[in-house]
Formats: sequence, structure tokens, C-alpha cells
Amino acid sequence: MSEGGPAVRRLADWDREHLRSLADEFGSPLYVTDLQRVRENCHRLREAFPDAHISYAVKAHAGRAVLETVRDAGIDAECASAGEVERALEAGFPGDRVRYTAVNPPAADLDHVVSRWEENPEMTITVGAADTIDRLRERGFDGRLCLRANPGIGAGHHEKVRTGAHAKFGIPIDRVPDLAEDVRDDVALVGVHAHAGSGISGDDLSAHRELVRRMGDLARSIDGLEFVDVGGGFGVPYREDEPPLSLDAVADATREALGDTDARLAIEPGRYVVADAGVLLSRVNTVKDVPETTVVGIDAGMTTLLRPAMYDAYHAISNLSRPDAEAVSTIIAGPVCETSDVFADGRLLARPERGDLLALGNAGAYGYEMASTYNSRPRPAEVVLDGDESRLARRRETLDDITTLERTASEHIPN
Ligand code: LLP
Repeated sequence: MSEGGPAVRRLADWDREHLRSLADEFGSPLYVTDLQRVRENCHRLREAFPDAHISYAVKAHAGRAVLETVRDAGIDAECASAGEVERALEAGFPGDRVRYTAVNPPAADLDHVVSRWEENPEMTITVGAADTIDRLRERGFDGRLCLRANPGIGAGHHEKVRTGAHAKFGIPIDRVPDLAEDVRDDVALVGVHAHAGSGISGDDLSAHRELVRRMGDLARSIDGLEFVDVGGGFGVPYREDEPPLSLDAVADATREALGDTDARLAIEPGRYVVADAGVLLSRVNTVKDVPETTVVGIDAGMTTLLRPAMYDAYHAISNLSRPDAEAVSTIIAGPVCETSDVFADGRLLARPERGDLLALGNAGAYGYEMASTYNSRPRPAEVVLDGDESRLARRRETLDDITTLERTASEHIPN
């Protein structure tokens, strides 16, 4: 197989025996992340966009091993918070390969990022509101600045992830040229940016094209820009029969829509890099036949993988313990006391028994990152694979981890 590997890695392509042995060794629920697949995905992106500047949207998976792998694959880091900036720098991204995209940034984030910028003056900060520039200036920032435009075009797999037209994000695109003129004397204006949304499929390509076209026009109206960043959002197939997005088609559409610009094209995918590099393993706690279906209770829940509860997202699920059993229609549910804690309803699954191990596919992007401790449930462990090696990348959280931050009602908590 080439360095880029296959265009898509489906749940059925994982080594079932290996996954079972990992769950035996490390317990469940367990995230498993294959670093080789992360490398392949980075490689494919670089092949499809050879001239572009590529950053990885750290929010998709900010684990140390993933960040180091992306760094070594020559892709930079796009960070959405001070915490992500910190983790990128800690993972060895040099300052000139780190960009911070401020979204309604809390003062503490700006304090922290500016102090990190002082040590890494090649870092770039992207702002989506004019007054964020004032707040940065108050803290002494006069470095590399990028303006995030709101191009009025959103796209993506769910209403909740369509960013490009939402007033929360970016500066209305027609105001960006004037603002660019205004800030020029105070900072080094290096780029413009926009992001349509997440999980863009082949059907959304026309929206992507229109966004890129508007960004090309914007970039041509401002002199001296280094880059024009058209965001991330490249989708991956979550359903078994869904064809993969053609990266080449996206790249062609992007180049054509951008037109000639002195500014270099930049992209910042997250999901594409990590989604199919990860699976979530979970054991069956309980099997309950009710008149209309079979309810399969598993030890992962919406606190482990939020996407189905939040976006009705589909994740492929298979029974690794009993792949040949007769398929039955199931509800696959978690242990959280919430109606929305359901991974699938009406899903055909090889009839499971208590103790069976299930795998949920495409869990590498926005999986662990969105995990929570709701219902006082510790977050899961994560194992990384690299070739024949596997090792614990993140230990399982304990109940002590959850309670360690609090004091009794009568204890004085120092601020
Ligand atoms: N750039 C910006 C400014 C973004 O806001 C995002 C994602 C990305 C890049 C990367 O998008 P990607 O290539 O990963 O689609 N939790 C949701 C996705 C939220 C994405 C938020 N922003 C999900 O699980 O589907």
C-alpha cells in the first residue's frame, strides 16, 4: 500500500483479534488510536494539496501522541484555545507552526497566549472580532495577525456544526478590507480565514466552492497577505456504504474557485486526519428483550462518545466477540441516566450476549475530546497503536480524579 494508505478505513478493516486483546489488557471503554493511520491521512492531504499550507485542527483530537505524529508528518497546528496552544507547543510544534484561532476568547486565554507568543513571536493569532485586536494590543501583542471572515456560507453534517454563516464566528466579510487597513500599522497582517463547517460531503462541494470564491476575492482586495485559509471540514464516511470524499475533487474545486492569488492557500482539517484512525471499544453490560426490539446496554455512553447524542451522528458498530451470530434489530444504549444516551436505534447487530465486546468506528475525531464526567463517570483510557506496538496513551480516569477538585461544604476553598 502507498504511504497514504487506502482512501477510507472502515470498521471491518480493523484487526478484530487485536482489538479484543487490547480490551482484555486495558479494560473498557477504551479508545484505540492508530498512529500509522494518522500518518497516512496526513500524507494523503499533503498529496492532494501539495502547494497549500496545512494545519491540523487540534480540537479533533488533542492527545500528545497524535500531535507528535501530525508534527512529524509536516502538518502544523491550529488551536482553538490557550489549552490547545499549550498542548501543541508542549508536543514540540515550534511557534511558527502554531496558530491560535480566538473564538470569543476569555481574558485568561489571551493572557496565556500572548505570554506564549512573547516566547514564540512567529506564532499567528486569528481573530473573529475587531475588539479582540484591541484586547491583544492592550497586552502588548503586535505580531502576526489573521482576520477571520464570516463569509455567510455554512455547510456540514449537522445544523450544529455549520459555522460559516453563524454570527458568532468571524467578521462580516465586507468589513474585513477596511479593518485590514485599520490594523496594518499596529500588527503584521498575514492572512485571512474562514471556515464553512464540519463534515462537508461531496454534496456540499458547491457551498465550499462558493466560500473559497469569496475568500479569493477577499484575498485579492488586501495587499501583502501571506495566506488565505479556507478552513477545514472535509468529511469522512461514517456509514459503511457511504463513498469517501474525493480529496482530489475537493482540491481541484478549491484551486479553481480561489483563482490566482498572491496569498498562499491554507487549509485546516481536523476530522479527516483522525476520524478513521480511532475506534471505541465497549463491553455489553446487559441484554434485554422487549416486545419491539433488543436493548443492548454497553459500558460506553454519551459521556464517552457524545456525537450520537449531540448530532444524531451515525457510527458503525460491530460485535467483535460474535461476528457470525444472527443479526437482530437493537437499541444500543449507554449507562447515563438520559434518554439521549443512545448510540443507535434500530441497528442490526450480531446478537450480543453479556460481556461481548463491541467496536464503534470513526471514533478518532471529536471522540475523547468531547468526553465528560457527567453522572460522575470517569473518562475512558486511550491506547495508541503504531505498527506492532501498542501502549497506553492516556490512563483511565478514576473517581479520585473526579472528586479531587472539590472540598466539603464547610471547608474553605482558597481562590
Ligand atoms: N477550523 C475551524 C475554525 C473550526 O472551527 C473547525 C471545527 C475546524 C477547522 C476543523 O473542522 P473539521 O475538519 O474537523 O471538520 N464536534 C463536531 C465537529 C465540530 C467542529 C468544530 N470546528 C463533530 O463531532 O462533528
